[in-house]
Amino acid sequence: MQATRTSARRLASALLRWYARHARALPWREPPGAKSPDPYRVWLSEVMLQQTTVATVRPRYARFLARWPTLDSLAAAPIEDVLAEWAGLGYYARARNLHACARIVAAEHRGRFPDSEAGLRALPGLGDYTAGAVAAIAFGRKVAAVDGNVERVIARLDAIATPLPAARAAIRARVASLVPPSRPGDFAQALMDLGATTCTPRQPRCLLCPWRAACRGFASGEPERYPVKPAKRARAMRHGVAFVLTRSDGAVWLTRRESRGLLGGMRQVPTTAWTATPPSAAAIRVASPAGASWRKLPDPVRHGFTHLDLALEIRVARLANGGRPRGDGAWWPRAGLAQAGLPTLMRKVLDAALGGRAP
Ligand code: ADE
Repeated sequence: MQATRTSARRLASALLRWYARHARALPWREPPGAKSPDPYRVWLSEVMLQQTTVATVRPRYARFLARWPTLDSLAAAPIEDVLAEWAGLGYYARARNLHACARIVAAEHRGRFPDSEAGLRALPGLGDYTAGAVAAIAFGRKVAAVDGNVERVIARLDAIATPLPAARAAIRARVASLVPPSRPGDFAQALMDLGATTCTPRQPRCLLCPWRAACRGFASGEPERYPVKPAKRARAMRHGVAFVLTRSDGAVWLTRRESRGLLGGMRQVPTTAWTATPPSAAAIRVASPAGASWRKLPDPVRHGFTHLDLALEIRVARLANGGRPRGDGAWWPRAGLAQAGLPTLMRKVLDAALGGRAP
């Protein structure tokens, strides 16, 4: 017992020493050993980073913060503006939760984030990882923040033979046992940086690792075997048809998706439902926004979401002068499409349909 505890302390201090020299300079971060950063900024960056790379988040974080520099300003913003600003960051439930969370903290917590992991966990959009990260980084709480990078580091450190996700509880417990009482926020970020820069998925740079001497994965000679992967399941496939309807002045007919489900509430060109088998002729007729002479593009647009792959067949038509599409929607001038807050999938669709001139 004593031996384990000592080695946990040693591991933590070796990592913090490494972090003092190798911490990545990131816009939402204070340098190692500095004061706690603004919880609003920590929370915003952690939500943005949930499924998105640091390289993508950097400029988007700066832009978001310039537009809504405080929690109260974000809480006061219309959800449509937040969704449009989020365009291209993917997984729009995150933006909805972000906004709902800002409103709750503004209205029910007098604009201050709860300073405990449990209090944070109760807010929309904060799962175990994000609640742990914000509690440790912004409030100096001695808690674990375990993301995919951290799982990899720990699975290698202990050469954990159980595949993910079954190994998660053990990994989390191990991280919790390693978090030091002082500087838990630096420890959390050091572990993330170690995973991102050194204990990388392929060709880890073990010779540069502060934990090499204790690492059973390194000792095994095959650190890349960890974490052990579960047997692969095929990703679900969905099919649909998208309708790109233009007017003689080039404007494009856009609608809004229902608020629930994938890309909920985002702008789109009308589509059929996205189904496991390609939609029937009847389903296509019902979803079509207008009787027109539709031209089918030879190749579908393919797009990968977190849990499924979508193939959207594209149909293009120009509405006759004076014609009006069915249902709710709006004509968007071709030159204004970049401001429509279109998700990446819809940009791909318009790009395919309008010949690389959009949006
Ligand atoms: N990935 C997610 N959160 C991060 C953080 N705070 N620092 C570095 N990488 C991260």
